[in-house]
Amino acid sequence: MSSPVFDHNKVTVIFVLGGPGAGKGTQCANLVEDFGFCHLSAGDLLRAEQHRQGSEFGELIQTCIKEGTIVPMEVTIKLLENAMAAAMKENRAGDGWKDGKGRFLVDGFPRKMDQALKFDESVCMASAVLFFSTTEEVLLSRLLERGKTSGREDDNEESIKKRFNTYKETTMPVINHYEALGRVIEIDSSPSVEIVHEQAKVAVAKLLRY
Ligand code: C5P
Ligand code: MG
Repeated sequence: MSSPVFDHNKVTVIFVLGGPGAGKGTQCANLVEDFGFCHLSAGDLLRAEQHRQGSEFGELIQTCIKEGTIVPMEVTIKLLENAMAAAMKENRAGDGWKDGKGRFLVDGFPRKMDQALKFDESVCMASAVLFFSTTEEVLLSRLLERGKTSGREDDNEESIKKRFNTYKETTMPVINHYEALGRVIEIDSSPSVEIVHEQAKVAVAKLLRY
């Protein structure tokens, strides 16, 4: 078995999970300010690839996003690995981090067990999972609000329903997997952005031994 591209003793990866609309992107942006992470959103990387001229995956990604299904892991893992390598090379993998060190928030990934196992084995073993949990009611109202301005093809009721199903059936097992390994930090993301941020900040500081 080949070893991962990045050594987890040097490169800290924190997966950020939670249902669609949980506030993953918002909280990651805050944690970047606090701790100088490089923030990589799997969904954003997929949307960029979808629109990249000459991409062979454009149509596949578009269909999956609209239907709320999971893009085959090879595509997403390669995008993440490339983005990590570029950040390391350009010293964007955390404030002042050099000598092959870095820290990443990998947002919206892994959404399926195969992605989790493959990434840990071939890219970098994740140190922890930040899990932003809340009710479906809260998720739905946030997504519909976001949908007014996001321009996203999947922030509509039909796609949202499908995304909730995928989350329950396919992503919850990933969270349970890491829970069994003792690596999940669960944060209630129902309160305001500020309160959730305070809690996330404390949890990450502890994890990084600040
Ligand atoms: O995280 P975000 O809500 O931006 O993801 C949008 C969509 O991108 C997902 O519903 C899914 O279709 C796709 N995706 C994926 N695998 C991931 C992350 C996102 O297939 N790890
Ligand atoms: Mg997001």
